[in-house]
Amino acid sequence: MKLLLLGANGQLGSDLLRVFRAAGDSVIPATHAEVDICSADRVSLVLGETKADVVLNTAAFHKVEECEKNPALAFQVNATGAMNLARACQQSGAVLVHFSTDYVFDGQKRAPYEETDLPSPLNVYGASKIAGEHLIGCNAERYFVIRTCGLYGVAGSSGKGGNFVENMLKKAMAGDAMRVVDDQVLTPTYTVDLAQATRNLILTQKFGLYHLSSEGECSWYEFARSILKLAGVDARLSPVKTTDFPSTVQRPSYSVLSKIKFRALALSIPPWQDALSRYLKERSTQRHLASVAPTQVSG
Ligand SMILES: NC(=O)c1ccc[n+]([C@@H]2O[C@H](COP(=O)([O-])OP(=O)(O)OC[C@H]3O[C@@H](n4cnc5c(N)ncnc54)[C@H](OP(=O)(O)O)[C@@H]3O)[C@@H](O)[C@H]2O)c1
Repeated sequence: MKLLLLGANGQLGSDLLRVFRAAGDSVIPATHAEVDICSADRVSLVLGETKADVVLNTAAFHKVEECEKNPALAFQVNATGAMNLARACQQSGAVLVHFSTDYVFDGQKRAPYEETDLPSPLNVYGASKIAGEHLIGCNAERYFVIRTCGLYGVAGSSGKGGNFVENMLKKAMAGDAMRVVDDQVLTPTYTVDLAQATRNLILTQKFGLYHLSSEGECSWYEFARSILKLAGVDARLSPVKTTDFPSTVQRPSYSVLSKIKFRALALSIPPWQDALSRYLKERSTQRHLASVAPTQVSG
């Protein structure tokens, strides 16, 4: 496959690049500075030049609080940007693979959400992402829209300044008391597993909307407890309620995604506990390699 990857140096983008290249695909990475998806002309030009068969779009404006303050920008990137890509792909014949979010749901269902469940976003971010999904459906025929949840990867989210696992470990190492909500239930998802599962899904050519996260579910508090336990770090961690952190932004209290449709294609993705162990091993390997790398001397 020849792929154009947008948002290439982001958290998911970095692992898509590694996984697809390791599988032998030709991937052309494009950062925000190289291709802004808000520019329809630039998107069309780059797609025409690269002649990619598949466009992977991880580009998004997903700082939830910032989206609330700046809805115009949220809709520009997450909705109009998605439409620009859909139109360019429809024109060039490329397949569009676009990532969306569990935040399109309000959490009231209290059971894993299926693709047929009606979205009801609680915040501007979720609303702008569902708008992007609809605009893709209206403008392209061959696409995958993949809703995912609670991402973490070694690159860390550029939009959110790191990732939850690293933030927990950093606070624990600093000896900080940690309070984490236990009334928001989700599925933390390792970006390496999502990248691999995305590749397998693309190969089926069964286009459409899919839910794809790690298997299983937990609260943020349970996730934090597992991180500290598996990393062998002692910390002062206590469960709190969402209402203990006053916020202008509402978040779904339950946003687990059902993988029934994905599994029906005879595909699978590992459980979050297994993914977390592999992530922790990978980060310590990377840290070790970084610590033994020769120091560059200039002059
Ligand atoms: N993180 C999560 O927990 C989570 C959960 C559910 C769904 N998702 C979805 O998963 C996708 C990937 O998330 P992620 O965690 O990998 O995010 P990320 O690390 O913040 O990466 C997003 C990338 O998009 C780029 N970007 C932002 N605006 C752009 C624009 N207008 N044009 C081109 N590139 C632009 C960013 O570049 P700059 O940093 O240089 O601006 C960054 O490289 C997003 O669609 C997000 O909505 C994420």
